[in-house]
Amino acid sequence: MKTKRAWQTALLITLLGSNLLLFSTLVRAYNADSWREAGQVYQKVCGHCHETGIGPQLKGRNLPTAYINQMVRQGNRAMPAFRLSDVNDQTLNQLALLIGNSKLTDNLMRSGKVAEK
Ligand code: HEC
Repeated sequence: MKTKRAWQTALLITLLGSNLLLFSTLVRAYNADSWREAGQVYQKVCGHCHETGIGPQLKGRNLPTAYINQMVRQGNRAMPAFRLSDVNDQTLNQLALLIGNSKLTDNLMRSGKVAEK
């Protein structure tokens, strides 16, 4: 009886452990994905205007992330507003870091670039 219990406990711990491992792997994959996504949003959306002279240069200006966030959510004159369904908060935060920390010479059009603060 006692050994059965011990086995059950061991099995339970093993299952919990592997679920935790799976969970943390998924979370890490998700984070990596949204970094790639931020680069892609810049490339496919922002770059359309901000790399072509339609909108002002954003790179290398140390633009504050809160300012970028607000511009993107609210828009300003010729700058369109983007809704949560266009770009989610996590991706937008990372996009703002990517732009805010960029140098003038950085190629943000290359997706997957990770900005480190
Ligand atoms: C349709 C073209 C267009 C797209 C797409 C676009 N922008 Fe803009 N953006 C503009 C224009 C034009 C302005 C200047 C607005 C003004 O001052 O009248 C601007 C202004 C800005 C500013 C303020 C810059 C400053 O000098 O103060 C930020 C920040 C910005 N955009 C970020 C973004 C980001 C991030 C994206 C991608 C999610 C994006 N924009 C997509 C056209 C665009």
